Amino acid sequence: MNNVVWHPHAVNKASRAEAKGQRPLVIWFTGLSGAGKSTLAGALEQALAAEGKHTYLLDGDNVRHGLCGDLGFDDAARQENIRRVGEVAKLMVDAGLIVLTAFISPFRAERALVRSLLEEGEFVEVFVDAPLAVCEERDPKGLYKKARAGEITNFTGIDSAYEAPEQPEIHLLNAGKPVEVLMDELLTALRQGGYL
Ligand code: ADX
Repeated sequence: MNNVVWHPHAVNKASRAEAKGQRPLVIWFTGLSGAGKSTLAGALEQALAAEGKHTYLLDGDNVRHGLCGDLGFDDAARQENIRRVGEVAKLMVDAGLIVLTAFISPFRAERALVRSLLEEGEFVEVFVDAPLAVCEERDPKGLYKKARAGEITNFTGIDSAYEAPEQPEIHLLNAGKPVEVLMDELLTALRQGGYL
C-alpha cells in the first residue's frame, strides 16, 4: 500500500493474549456444504466458552449476509470471500481471540493464503470430510436438489470444484457420525496437537 505506514501500537497481540490467558489461533473448518462444519464449529465454540476461553465464530452463511453480502459463488467471488474472512480472522487473532471459521473454502490457494497471513502454528486446518453422497442425502437446506435441477449454478461438488486439503492439521471423517463422537475426536486432536 503506497504512502501508508504500519503503526505499531503499545498494546499488542501478546499483551491481549496474556490478558485473556489463552493462545490465539484460527481453527479453520473446510468441507462440502452439509458436511457438518457449522455444527462442529458451533459445538466446539460452546465447549471452549464453557472453559472460559474467548472465542468468535465466523460462519459462511452469516458472513454472507453482511461483510460478504455483495459476493456470489463464482470462483472469483469465493476467492474474495475467503480473502476477506482471512483478513478479519487475522485481526481477531491479533485481538487475542480463538477464531473458529466455517466456510466451504473450496480452493487450496485461498486456504494457503489465509495460512500465510498468520504466524506459524496459528492456523489449524480442519477437514470435515463427508462424502458428496452423504451431504446430498442430508441436504439440510435443499440446495443440492436445486443444484441438480439446474436452479442454482456453481454449486460445490456439483458444478464447482472442491479441492480437498492435502495435509490438514486435523482430518475428520464424517459419513454420518454423531456430533458428540466427532467433537471427541476434534478435541483430542486439538489437545494432542498442542493447540489448546
Ligand atoms: S465459500 O465457497 O465461499 O467458502 P461459503 O462457505 O461462504 O462458501 O458459503 C457456502 C454456503 O452458501 C453453503 O453452505 C450454502 O448454504 C450456500 N450456498 C448458496 N449457493 C451456493 C453455491 N452455489 N455453492 C455453495 N454453497 C452455496
